[in-house]
Amino acid sequence: MIVRQLFDQASSTYSYLLTDARTRDAVLIDSVFEQHARDAALIRELGLTLRATLDTHCHADHVTGAWLMKAAFGSKIGLAGVYGALNVDLPLAAGDLVRFGGEALEVRATPGHTAGCLSFVTADHARVFTGDALLVRGAGRTDFQQGDAHQLFRSIHDQLFTLGDDCIVYPGHDYDGRTSSTIGEERQHNPRIGGGAREEDFVGYMTNLGLPHPKQIAVAVPANLRAGQPEDGTAVRAADWGPVVTTYAGLKEIAPEWVAGHRRDVQVLDVRAAAELDGELGHLEGALNIPLDELRARVADVPRDKPIVVVCQTGKRSGLATVILGKAGLDRIANVAGGMVRWRELGLPS
Ligand SMILES: [Fe+2]
Repeated sequence: MIVRQLFDQASSTYSYLLTDARTRDAVLIDSVFEQHARDAALIRELGLTLRATLDTHCHADHVTGAWLMKAAFGSKIGLAGVYGALNVDLPLAAGDLVRFGGEALEVRATPGHTAGCLSFVTADHARVFTGDALLVRGAGRTDFQQGDAHQLFRSIHDQLFTLGDDCIVYPGHDYDGRTSSTIGEERQHNPRIGGGAREEDFVGYMTNLGLPHPKQIAVAVPANLRAGQPEDGTAVRAADWGPVVTTYAGLKEIAPEWVAGHRRDVQVLDVRAAAELDGELGHLEGALNIPLDELRARVADVPRDKPIVVVCQTGKRSGLATVILGKAGLDRIANVAGGMVRWRELGLPS
């Protein structure tokens, strides 16, 4: 199993993309609404089949990307059944198995942070995704959303600390740059529940944290009880001028075949050196030539009445050009994927 850890800076949330390396079936744990384009691009680029999104719990600090993923890939939505949330295909409970390809995740109930918190354990018990039940040197707060410190103490003791010392703990959040831990490490060093802490120690700690009310709770909880379906029912809006794809690298790309069929609707910008335009690959008719080295200084020469499609030899320099144009305030821009090399391979007309 391949585990990819992804991070949302705004909410300090970790998402986990788990893949069966053989079949390329995948599940995504705790996806974030605002990171949909990034995560969807990764899934597409790696050629994965997303079977399900799983949420460890109904989050109060961010909205899940589950519904957007289902709209994009037809993946099933998994969340604890006890919430009674809308749009849930897999109402999960303790003892369930979530299978993807030849891999499986075991569902454990670890309530206490919320009443429906789940942890997901890989079939070999080598890894556990703990959501906000057990964090690296911490534990999820228990002062709202039916939180219960007594219950969380028992969940961690009975469901998580019973795993082996070497079992890797992947938390739902971290605010200090820590990415993972192990059960053995947390059993020993967790300041709230490690080192043989008793239930009253843990409860005393948790009830005196004095944390501010989560900013997002009024928005996030109702949205998560719809599995992240936007209130107006629409998915992420695509570019209004063409099928622009944002890559995992964050670049806006468009297929050369589309550009070839819409030459009048766009302005081609070629960012190669002038001499390259008459080389072996030639150039596209009507292309404006501003070499990449000059683009920052000459950005005012780029017309704004049509969308700009940027081209170079293989799509690398033009990729950077779209970033430069974006920073200069142009938003209808895209890189021609694969550049002139790909254009010629496809036999498209100049
Ligand atoms: Fe949470």
